[in-house]
Amino acid sequence: VLTGGGDAPGLNAVIRAVVKSALNRGWVVFGVQDGFEGFFKPSGIRELGPTDVRGILQTGGTVLGCSNRGNPFGSRSDGPARAVREDRSPEVRERIEALGLDALVVTGGDGTLAIAARLEQEQGIPVVGIPKTIDNDVSGTDVTFGHDTACQTATDAIDRLHTTAASHQRVMVIEVMGRDAGWIALRAGAAGGGDVILIPEIPYDFDAVCRKVLDRRGHGAPFSLVVVAEGAFPAGGEKVRMVSAAESATGFERLGGIGAFVASRLERECRIETRVTVLGHLQRGGSPTHRDRMLGTRYGVGAVELAAKGLTGRMVALRGEEIVSVPLADVVGKLKLVDPNGEEVHAVESIGVGFGR
Ligand code: F6P
Repeated sequence: VLTGGGDAPGLNAVIRAVVKSALNRGWVVFGVQDGFEGFFKPSGIRELGPTDVRGILQTGGTVLGCSNRGNPFGSRSDGPARAVREDRSPEVRERIEALGLDALVVTGGDGTLAIAARLEQEQGIPVVGIPKTIDNDVSGTDVTFGHDTACQTATDAIDRLHTTAASHQRVMVIEVMGRDAGWIALRAGAAGGGDVILIPEIPYDFDAVCRKVLDRRGHGAPFSLVVVAEGAFPAGGEKVRMVSAAESATGFERLGGIGAFVASRLERECRIETRVTVLGHLQRGGSPTHRDRMLGTRYGVGAVELAAKGLTGRMVALRGEEIVSVPLADVVGKLKLVDPNGEEVHAVESIGVGFGR
């Protein structure tokens, strides 16, 4: 079992479920340390027993560690200075064969799952995927684990900002995660009573944002909460980058700063005192909600069951109330985005929340 990419609350529930259900079948389980990097380190893979997963259900992070580096197919992920481009996927296969492993369970977002799919297609490694990301943008499943906890963390933060915003009659801009998809901004923004929600799927018109805030003021609500996904951008404009791919130590660009950008424009153009809060990685940490613990457990058990049936090259998924599986090839490379004209946005817009359009 391997946890790739960034962490998400519920990873330990998945690891625990994989280990416990596999041990109950009399199998042997190994954990790969630090995502795919573990395959290239002599001590990067270790056997996992019951004591390794004791007491971890309620904890954030991952006891296996995770990493965006170590893509076996080569990437710039070791930084621009040490560009790694060679294909090391045969080494992964050799390591798996040497250990006598029958299946590799990979938890990850779109990028990690795409690597897993390639490992099966090109190296014949039997893989089972589990959809993970707080952003909830993996397609083929109703929800990824980690998303519920991130939404709850963001909702709690918005609640706290609400009272101080009202006391000072200020605009509070809250920047939440969501690189490509605005699920966290939409759901936490709505749950926290946000007045404006800006998401990547609906490029915003700043005048509409300003109008909404001024309109509230004109109607006796002198404060506003503006919830902005990090990947939101104005119509005809661009996402705000904190660190470019060329500058970053990982070779991946980092978004961030749209909250400050929106806040300073609001203060300047609407003449309303404005403050900004960036929630950042607070959304990735902390104890998983009961939903993420349960979903992680169901996904972990579902993955072991797929492996037992030899149904590899597939990802476990939630559809309605049921755990199902879908071919990995059908889900990777297709992000699940918020539908700007879907029911969820419609409901939130119908109660007067502005999307900057
Ligand atoms: O993929 C989830 C996510 O939370 C994105 O919204 C965000 O851009 C990214 O992780 C940041 O990850 P890191 O700081 O670990 O590179």
